[in-house]
Amino acid sequence: MQYRLGRPLIRAAEIQARVQELAEVISQDYAERDLLLICVLKGAAIFWADLSRALRIPAQSDFVAMESYGDATLPLQEPRFTKPAGVSLGHRDILIVEDIIDTGHTSVHLRTLLHGQAPKSVALCTLLDKAERREVPTPIQYCGFVIPNVFVVGYGLDYAQQYRHLPYVATLEPLSDG
Ligand code: IMP
Ligand code: MG
Repeated sequence: MQYRLGRPLIRAAEIQARVQELAEVISQDYAERDLLLICVLKGAAIFWADLSRALRIPAQSDFVAMESYGDATLPLQEPRFTKPAGVSLGHRDILIVEDIIDTGHTSVHLRTLLHGQAPKSVALCTLLDKAERREVPTPIQYCGFVIPNVFVVGYGLDYAQQYRHLPYVATLEPLSDG
């Protein structure tokens, strides 16, 4: 099956406005704390870049990579850690920055791995929540948008490494020859 870019789902201006709102709440919640943003590569990179620059408080950042999809649009059941964090997480206030929570497996697995390093707290900030698709519960403290059960690309999210650079979020649709 081949796919093409579908209709825009969330416009660039809407994303930017929501990112500013999230950054404001996070700045209040983490004032006087020891905030370490953990950006989940690659999908969250663009969200992290905008969110972190909108914060009004000191924050450190690090990057982890989890493999969960390859080129397919169906998730594997056991996501793998392909790049662990490079800094010590002990006694830090960790905020995971994710692009999208779908089945929930990736974030549950990631939380378990991070908790093994004894952080002070772990919270999750995701741009998108595909809530209908959840298979395992995962608490989301900060959410940009709840979206329906459609595969989306743009603003960091990809299909086969394509479309990450789009400033908006769009659906991906099967390419029909009709
Ligand atoms: P989960 O483990 O099913 O929650 O999947 C989380 C990861 O799957 C996300 O971090 C994305 O990388 C990827 N993913 C899930 N849904 C989509 C989508 O609609 N578009 C692009 N990537 C997705
Ligand atoms: Mg991801």
